[in-house]
Amino acid sequence: IRDDPAAVGDYIASYICKRINGFKPTQEKPFVLGLPTGSSPIPTYKRLIKFVKEGELSFKNVVTFNMDEYVGLPQDHPESYHTFMFREFFSHVDIPPSQVNILNGNAEDLVGECKAYEAKIKSYGGIELFLGGIGEDGHIAFNEPGSSLSSRTRIKTLAYDTILANARFFNNDISAVPRMALTVGVATVLDSREVVTVVTGLRKALALSKAIEEGVNHLWTLSALQLHPWALIVADEDATAEL
Ligand code: GLP
Repeated sequence: IRDDPAAVGDYIASYICKRINGFKPTQEKPFVLGLPTGSSPIPTYKRLIKFVKEGELSFKNVVTFNMDEYVGLPQDHPESYHTFMFREFFSHVDIPPSQVNILNGNAEDLVGECKAYEAKIKSYGGIELFLGGIGEDGHIAFNEPGSSLSSRTRIKTLAYDTILANARFFNNDISAVPRMALTVGVATVLDSREVVTVVTGLRKALALSKAIEEGVNHLWTLSALQLHPWALIVADEDATAEL
């Protein structure tokens, strides 16, 4: 638990920096990193960018897999997760674009796209560290309440609560928020060797208490991390209000 979102971001970024540098990634054996979107990871991204600019960290031998992407939103739309990731992170660090993986929500064959994503993660030997955020309904990636805990990358219809929460990114126009997304599954996240989750703000307080103080429950998919041998949640004071 850290004081505020900035301190949470500093903590996670330093942690990821240590993990990547300790791993000593090479082109043959890159560090495989899972990444989220949303406002919660922005302080982490800012601090990681600073580390790269100061020469303390490099993403040259890092391969990334993003958690999710909207279905049907043009890739160059300002709110697509592609746009978000390049604007907030990738454009500011030394990662070769060929090492960035983000689901294509405009693929002709969406089921095939999801299958290929899982296969590509496997081809790298799995994800070393998955950084995640959560929704107000406790979803991890876009694994909405009711998602199977053994789910894999797939198409998911967004919960009404999520559509409402994300309307702020679409000029508060609920009708502009995509109804579906492609998302890694709960089991995809659990398969990662390590999971780090950022939880900040009062809006997440209920989800955090449900996920860590109640049982493993598919209605609060973050709670699945209780099954993971190496899961870390980094929260700010506000997010702990219900604990
Ligand atoms: C979306 C993403 C989640 C993310 C969540 C939280 O729903 N699919 O992966 O964790 O937003 O967003 P924020 O950090 O802006 O609250």
